[in-house]
Amino acid sequence: MKNGNHSLLEAFNNTTYQVSGHGKRNVQVLKDAFDDADGNMNSDMYGNGKPIEEFQEKMAKYLGKPSAVFFPSGTMAQQIALRIWCDRIGIKKVAYHPLSHLEIHEQDGLKQLHHIETVLLADKERTIELEDVLNMKEDVACVLLELPQREIGGQLPTYEDLEAISAHCRAKGIKLHLDGARLFEILPYYRKTASEICGLFDSVYVSLYKGIGGIAGAILAGDEDFTSESKIWKRRHGGDLISLYPYILSADKYFDQRVSKMDTYYEGAKELAELFNECHAISTKPSIPVSNMFHVHADMPKERFESALTSVHEQSGIGISPYVNSTSDTACYLEISIGDRYEAIPKAELKKALRLLDETMKKLFR
Ligand SMILES: Cc1ncc(COP(=O)(O)O)c(C=O)c1O
Repeated sequence: MKNGNHSLLEAFNNTTYQVSGHGKRNVQVLKDAFDDADGNMNSDMYGNGKPIEEFQEKMAKYLGKPSAVFFPSGTMAQQIALRIWCDRIGIKKVAYHPLSHLEIHEQDGLKQLHHIETVLLADKERTIELEDVLNMKEDVACVLLELPQREIGGQLPTYEDLEAISAHCRAKGIKLHLDGARLFEILPYYRKTASEICGLFDSVYVSLYKGIGGIAGAILAGDEDFTSESKIWKRRHGGDLISLYPYILSADKYFDQRVSKMDTYYEGAKELAELFNECHAISTKPSIPVSNMFHVHADMPKERFESALTSVHEQSGIGISPYVNSTSDTACYLEISIGDRYEAIPKAELKKALRLLDETMKKLFR
């Protein structure tokens, strides 16, 4: 017999529609990006040349920063940003959320490669608030804020708190860095431009493969002297690939295609979360999404929720998730990120699938 996870994935792969993402992450994504590319364009070479320079300028302008640098990954870009601020301030310590990407997904790169210590702000259930920064006992070179905080369903602090944290850090000489992996995705909720939000931060990282849907890649933006130094570190990290244009041209194309659709994704997330919240023993976090993403929590062991989803996938043809994460022996969750796929689902079929989920959950609880 197949284990739950495998049959869930199989059932998901056989569905006609899927609620998350833009589409399959297959080679077609790159082929489509190069559909109308000029074959005579010279490739970028070690960080120089038209494809990389033009895109960097475009991103700097969009983010309202003097300069921007393309990196192959956000992991590389952010460790470098924090290293630069630590060197500048002369303190090898930074503060961030306990569930920050750097803390839980990067194999301690910041500590192992740069010997930077960390202070964990707030608790795991909520975002960093002004009080956390005001009450910080230790001296740090930089505070990193992740907007939205992915591991808790993409929660956000209030904009007033952001402004107050920014003013406090400025007054105290603490650098403020934005992990804006999903920055584009939060603009509709804050009703701010990227440049207004980035104006609160000394340095900013954005991802090009999440809401934007590129192949991979990141932008690190800030003042000229900061980005010049980041290029040196990019070379040291082996991030200056001789040519990065496959990532850059695709990021550019999908940026143009999707950056104006963030509002639609956000509205879709709110609509879908409401449907999940009507289901038995299911709740979303946040209860009303503040971006295109949210988490769906179920009060049952992972294996039981997997079988409920498998059956919904098989009966409805609508894919909710290919996996479930366990939070304890009696609870689990999955992540939803709305993209282009959501709009394609006929509403009546979607509602039917969610009603089916509700009924299946009720049966499992009998
Ligand atoms: C919040 C956050 N920060 C940083 C990263 C790192 O990005 P990359 O995969 O480009 O290294 C991610 C990737 O998932 C992320 O979600």
